[in-house]
Amino acid sequence: MKRQSIVAANWKMNGGFALVEEMSERLAHISLQESVNVVVCPSFPFLSALSHSFIQHELADTFAIGAQNVNEFDSGAYTGEVSADMLKACNVQYVILGHSERRSIYKETSTQVAHKVKQALENGLTPILCIGESEAERMAEQTETVLAAQLQPVIDEVGISAFANIVIAYEPVWAIGTGKTASPAMAQETHQFIRTFLAELDANIAQKTPVLYGGSVNAKNCEELFAQADIDGGLIGGASLKADEFTVICSAAKGTN
Ligand code: 13P
Repeated sequence: MKRQSIVAANWKMNGGFALVEEMSERLAHISLQESVNVVVCPSFPFLSALSHSFIQHELADTFAIGAQNVNEFDSGAYTGEVSADMLKACNVQYVILGHSERRSIYKETSTQVAHKVKQALENGLTPILCIGESEAERMAEQTETVLAAQLQPVIDEVGISAFANIVIAYEPVWAIGTGKTASPAMAQETHQFIRTFLAELDANIAQKTPVLYGGSVNAKNCEELFAQADIDGGLIGGASLKADEFTVICSAAKGTN
């Protein structure tokens, strides 16, 4: 059985109506390999526009919409926050959680991330759970310890079987926005660790869970990264803001065995 591959665009705090339109026009003309899903994650104010644009271009059945965060509560006095219900009203199917920028700048803890993962799952949204080590942690040979410590609270919160509906994105912090991509071999080694870590709890789930790579992925390096056995696509930042480049990356993604 082929594992699903995913290429997700994380626009971060960039992009707007023009990029929504340009991306839809480009996506309407690409051909994807079998079992590859593409997810576009704009900022909250543009989710609805992207949904309308996908419908207008007849892309809504082929491409998915993702958000970049969700609140862990259903509703209430949480000024500035966005609920899972609100995302679903915009036809959102995926939500990026635990991105290193949220962990480091907004001090989200792995426990809070775990609560958000639970909230997403309970509302039928697929979490794209980001994990990754800093440069100092890699230098100190702490990568596996850090990744395990980021995964464990989520496993404790939702259980290993819930990973049938979770996508993991391994994003080494030192590779994000720096142009310093992990070498394909280094990324593969870490992805294999992640899969083995899950397999110790449930081998079947571990085989099914897509593990994406993120960090300076571009049109030039994507093919070699996607060729690795345990890399099931990518979470793309900067290169996802260029519709031409992003579509090249989407077309390079392969369903893996
Ligand atoms: P870059 O592709 O810009 O390095 O960003 C990666 C990322 O953080 C995606 O979530």
